[in-house]
Amino acid sequence: MTAIEPATPHLAQGGVWSAPGRVNLIGEHTDYNGGLVLPLAIDRRTTCTVTPREDRILRVTSTAGDGEAIELSIDELAADAVSGWSAYVLGVAWALGEMGSDLSSVTGLNIELDSDVPIGAGLSSSAAIECSVAVALNDLWSLGRSPMELARAGRLAENSAVGAPTGIMDQAASMLGEQDHAVFLDCMTEEAQTVPLHLEENALALLIVDTRVEHAHATGGYASRRASCEKGAAAMGVKFLSELSVDDLPELQKRVDDETFRRCRHIVTENQRVLDTVEALRTKGPLAIGNLLCAGHASMRDDFEISVPEMDLAVDTAMASGAIGARLTGGGFGGSMVALVRDGDVDAISAAVAAAFAGAGYTEPHSFTVHAASGARRDDSESTTT
Ligand code: GLA
Repeated sequence: MTAIEPATPHLAQGGVWSAPGRVNLIGEHTDYNGGLVLPLAIDRRTTCTVTPREDRILRVTSTAGDGEAIELSIDELAADAVSGWSAYVLGVAWALGEMGSDLSSVTGLNIELDSDVPIGAGLSSSAAIECSVAVALNDLWSLGRSPMELARAGRLAENSAVGAPTGIMDQAASMLGEQDHAVFLDCMTEEAQTVPLHLEENALALLIVDTRVEHAHATGGYASRRASCEKGAAAMGVKFLSELSVDDLPELQKRVDDETFRRCRHIVTENQRVLDTVEALRTKGPLAIGNLLCAGHASMRDDFEISVPEMDLAVDTAMASGAIGARLTGGGFGGSMVALVRDGDVDAISAAVAAAFAGAGYTEPHSFTVHAASGARRDDSESTTT
């Protein structure tokens, strides 16, 4: 067999790329409703070390796995070609082809993954894998895709290869994140702006509490919430719930059953909370967003019903111990809480939540702080480039 020339001569030796997990500050389940989100990329990343091969095989290994290598030929890429964790990786390669990139003459690759994004904690460990792989393939195969196109490839992999009917938020945050900034994204137009958080100068921190209740969005509640949203939009004759405002809620209430109404009310009010949070951050600073975070949590708990008792206990305890605001972050049914807290309160709030969990007989939670970090990028020195 003739050796295939790497498409990008200066990357003949391969390289190292990485992409972060994310925490969503506010705007939950609004992404697939064409709405607004305000996530940030975090300082927990997946690193992807890639070396070109002389054949057409993609060989994937992960330090998180049992040392097992998954191999697939580029010619055999398909949405359902693999299952398990390697679907996040090979799904992205498939998605890029599906989106029109010509993969007919690209080289095979050895892809090694390593990650410090906690798995199953609602911090988008999957988007971190997808985006690190997407930037690596984009460079090595000279595909010329924009960051938002790479985010779309990650989402397509998640939807079709993994089978989770998610929106674009996680991959967009992982691609577009910026240090000390949140990403304000309109999921309808895919227009993004970064918004300064000003946490450090206000002596504030973002505290994450992983409740250790594992969630999976390929099954169950996530899809049923999405179906309720689609039902509400159809009843109002719109494509997306984000086309509605809070003034439309009385009419919506007349047209749908109570449960569907409450699901949709969460989306419509959450969209408004994202706008209000961005406005508050820009005009008054982070101390002004606490009530909005708490209102978002109440809406997810009571209207969207995606919280769990562990999460509510974490939020209530954090607030009773001096947090400025706290809420469930991510898709729900487990995962992590994000709280905005004063620097000096981090330890006391973490200890209070741990004590409350012990008192309730729950598994010990994991608490740690995160900083807003930069998005997906090439990590190794460019000195080998020609
Ligand atoms: C998960 C999905 C996102 C988004 C959130 C909820 O993280 O991957 O697309 O829908 O849930 O806001």
